[in-house]
Amino acid sequence: MINEGIVNVSYIIATILFILALGGLSNQETARRGNWYGIIGMTIALLATVFGGDVTANYDKLIVALLVGGSIGLLLARRVQMTQMPELVAVLHSLVGAAAVAVGFANFMGHGSGLSGVELTIHDIETYLGILIGAVTFSGSVIAFLKLSARISGTPLTIPGRHWFNLALLIGAIWFGRDFVIQSAAGGGLEPLIIMTAIALLFGIHMVMAIGGADMPVVVSMLNSYSGWAAAATGFMLENDLLIVTGALVGSSGAILSYIMCRAMNRKFLAVIAGGFGTGGGTAAKSDGEDQGEVIAIEAHDTAALLAGAKEVMIIPGYGMAVAQAQHIVYEITCALRDSNVNVRFGIHPVAGRMPGHMNVLLAEAKVPYDIVFEMDEVNEDFPDVDVSMVIGANDIVNPSAQTDPDSPIAGMPVLECWKGKTTIVLKRSMATGYAGVQNPLFFKENTRMLFGDAKNSLDAVFKAL
Ligand code: TAP
Repeated sequence: MINEGIVNVSYIIATILFILALGGLSNQETARRGNWYGIIGMTIALLATVFGGDVTANYDKLIVALLVGGSIGLLLARRVQMTQMPELVAVLHSLVGAAAVAVGFANFMGHGSGLSGVELTIHDIETYLGILIGAVTFSGSVIAFLKLSARISGTPLTIPGRHWFNLALLIGAIWFGRDFVIQSAAGGGLEPLIIMTAIALLFGIHMVMAIGGADMPVVVSMLNSYSGWAAAATGFMLENDLLIVTGALVGSSGAILSYIMCRAMNRKFLAVIAGGFGTGGGTAAKSDGEDQGEVIAIEAHDTAALLAGAKEVMIIPGYGMAVAQAQHIVYEITCALRDSNVNVRFGIHPVAGRMPGHMNVLLAEAKVPYDIVFEMDEVNEDFPDVDVSMVIGANDIVNPSAQTDPDSPIAGMPVLECWKGKTTIVLKRSMATGYAGVQNPLFFKENTRMLFGDAKNSLDAVFKAL
């Protein structure tokens, strides 16, 4: 066992490392370093907690738990495909929520902590909030996992009077909170705690079920934030400063990310949470798109010729690039074009793919230089000067109906305006819709060419022809 002073110093070092990790992760060039800071910080935090004064017995069980948990984590991380990362993140969030609920109940049942009066009330409120946020995080994340992995439909479930239903759940949670604090002072309180947990679980399910396809990015980052607050509340319950600080860091950075996502989607945060976005009416899924106009297909060698003859090329990657694992061949093509003095840039939409920063991670993995990768806002004005835009497995993020059809589920979402360039080549396998389930008029425009097939196979052929 190590003494309290060393534990505190370790906690401060871990906190600093977590802050450096977040700072590092906000930029591609420093992301790898940021990851290492996080790993080292978490190792220090775990060791300090395990060997600190709070653990006095049952080391054998603790070590078994660490080994089992660590091995499962390692196995999952090694096995997960890039396309499954968002689901994995959702599952991990659900575990944080479940842990907060379990710790809350354990803490309450075993509390007899000798607290009384105001101290007991404060402790009860901490416990109540920890379980409440944890339960919402848990059930919400499980639904997010099911939606992201397409195990259940992404279509929003909008029950009539859903806002009143949410309000009733909120009032119920407050009501039973009052009951809990009163009963706990008299030695009881388990019943209202269980009822509130059921209410919170229901709220989490209803909240995420009501969110439509295109708004899932906000939910993913919001659950990220909730998992932080659940951890912080657990920290208060356990009087563990490191957990409070770490939880607050995750909670606030997740909240900032949610805000950024909302701006990217041109949505109001509260409106997304209240649910029902992405319901759609107007343009919803007409997967064959027959009456939308003519589709002009193109072959790989003609694509290569267009690229080779261009001065300005914009590559717009989307979820399909991740599915096809086409990032490496994209890099090869980029190098070949740059060697022939073609100016190649990448335009990245903030919600491209299925998780924040998804495309940036893939491009970094393929060693695409950072200085040719741009945010949507940095390149959207430049399209009139672009000779060829190559849309690789993207759909919703280049859908002009977001600007033209007020009834569209993605109405108002800023998109990459590639149709303003000279030619757009779209690589995808079919005329199927993207995540939001809406048809895309871009595919029917006169200056659009469709290169059908798996993105990696198509690009292999383009590279050969180049
Ligand atoms: P999507 O709109 O989902 O379109 C992806 C396209 O890729 C599909 O139309 C699909 O068409 C094509 N595709 C799939 N596999 C392919 C393959 N092997 N080769 C070639 N093409 C392939 O993706 P996006 O444009 O990146 O937009 C992202 C969407 O996901 C947005 O609606 C966003 O709101 C949502 N979303 C984002 C996040 C985050 S945080 N980024 C989280 C959840 C949801 P085919 O089937 O015809 O090939």
